[in-house]
Amino acid sequence: MILDGKQLAQQLKEAMREQVAALAKQYGRKPCLNVIIVGENPASMAYVQNKIKATEYCGFDGELIQLPESTSQEELLRIIRECNANPTVDGILVQLPLPKHIDEQAVIETIDPDKDVDGFHPSNVAKLWLNQPTIVPCTPMGIMALLEHSHTPLEGRHAVVVGRSNIVGKPIAKLLLDKNCTVTIAHSRTADLGAVCREADILVVAVGRPRIITGEMVKPGATVIDVGINRTDNGKLVGDVDFESVAPVAGAITPVPGGVGPMTITMLMHNTIQCFQKRINK
Ligand code: GUN
Repeated sequence: MILDGKQLAQQLKEAMREQVAALAKQYGRKPCLNVIIVGENPASMAYVQNKIKATEYCGFDGELIQLPESTSQEELLRIIRECNANPTVDGILVQLPLPKHIDEQAVIETIDPDKDVDGFHPSNVAKLWLNQPTIVPCTPMGIMALLEHSHTPLEGRHAVVVGRSNIVGKPIAKLLLDKNCTVTIAHSRTADLGAVCREADILVVAVGRPRIITGEMVKPGATVIDVGINRTDNGKLVGDVDFESVAPVAGAITPVPGGVGPMTITMLMHNTIQCFQKRINK
C-alpha cells in the first residue's frame, strides 16, 4: 500500500480553506503567517515557496520575508521581535537551516511561543514532553495523521525511528510513545542498523541520507515512513529509503515526493489556525 500524503494533504487543506473562510467571517480577519528565509539555499527556497502557495490556497494573510545571506543575527532577531509585537501576525516561521553566522537556537528562542507554528521553542518542546497542550512540530504531526488515516495499528507495536533531530526524530518518537508504541531511536552510531530496523513494525526514517534503508533492512509487512528529501547528482528527488527494494517488502510505504512532504505543509496550516484561535480567545 502506498501512503498517499499528497492526496490526504489536499483533502485536509480543502477542509481548512472552508474553516478559514468561516473564521474570517466570524472574527473579521484571517489567520496570518509570516515566513522568513535567510539566503538562497535552493532546497529551502523551494520548501518556502510551497508553504506560501499553501497559505494562499487556504486563504491566509501573510508575508514572505526574504533576507540576504549576509543578514546579521541582530537584524534577524529585530525582525522577529517586530513580528512578535505585530498583533495581526499569528504565526512566525523561520526556515532552517540558517547561515552559519546565525545561532539557530537564539532565533528559535526569540519567536513568541504563542506564534511558534513550528513548535520548536523550548517552552513548546517542554510542553510536548510533559503532555501539556501545545503546538506540535509539523512533520511529526503529518506522519501521525498518515498513520491514523491508514488505520495503522500502533498500540504495543515496535516503532523504530532512525534519526534524532529536534525537528523530526525526537518529537515523532514522543508521539509514537503516546500511542503506546514501544519506541527505539536509532542513529548514525547505531551498531548493526539493519538488525535494529528489521525489528520495526513501524519504521520512520529521517536522516537525510539518500536510500540508506534497503529492502533487506525491513521486516516483511512493516509500515515504512520516509521523511528524507534528497537530490541525487542527476537531479532526481529520492528519500532516505530505497523505494525500489523496500516497497516489495513493506506492507505500506510513503513515496518521495508525495508522502510526508505535503503533510508537513498541511500541518503548518493547521498550526497557524491553532495559533490564530488561541490568540483570538486570549
Ligand atoms: N527545515 C526543514 N524542515 C523544517 C521545518 O519543519 N520548519 C522550519 N522552520 N525549517 C525547516
